[in-house]
Amino acid sequence: KTNLIIAIDGPAASGKGTLARRLADYYHLPHLDTGLTYRAVAQMMLSKAWSLDDDSRAIEAAGLVDLAALDREVLSAHEVADAASRVAVIPEVRRILVEKQREFARRDQGAVLDGRDIGTVVCPQADVKLYVTASAEVRALRRLRDIEGRGGHADFSEILGDIKKRDERDMGRADSPLKPAEDAHLLDTSEMSIEAAFRSAKNIVDDAM
Ligand code: C5P
Repeated sequence: KTNLIIAIDGPAASGKGTLARRLADYYHLPHLDTGLTYRAVAQMMLSKAWSLDDDSRAIEAAGLVDLAALDREVLSAHEVADAASRVAVIPEVRRILVEKQREFARRDQGAVLDGRDIGTVVCPQADVKLYVTASAEVRALRRLRDIEGRGGHADFSEILGDIKKRDERDMGRADSPLKPAEDAHLLDTSEMSIEAAFRSAKNIVDDAM
């Protein structure tokens, strides 16, 4: 299948991003990390010192998001992630970003998209849907190792608290809450290596092709 669409959803630090990149690489598909689009809105708000409660500014920022100019490095900051989950509750912001994400998925070479609402809202027609989870403790530990691996310092319980807060915001919002699509394959990576998670996802995709 040449225009294969793979939808990957899951909470923060579940490993969905790594999995999405590995699958995109393996199947030679373009990849969009949709979290970056919400982060780009947040980053613009923060850099212009716009209040995160100013919906009309957030909507303006969403309109300016350019998928070709998303920079992972710039958008990786922890404050940006938290602010992203705040602007992500605004329905008009979501409508604008979802339209851009769908455009990416509509191109005819297929795509891997990862986020929170890909299987449920952005690409409900996806060929394969994966819902990637891991316990909050495992996710916090992975994030901690990640930060330490890059020479930084962080506090485990603080990271765990942040992850739980973001889970609550993402799962509890009215518009497009994080939840598995009915036809999603669940992948709990709590006790899986990246390699094992990749093999198991690859088997699911191969079965669907
Ligand atoms: O995936 P990432 O951690 O980069 O996403 C940042 C925030 O953007 C999430 O916590 C979530 O609130 C929001 N988001 C979303 N829908 C998506 C992707 C991200 O609401 N499809």
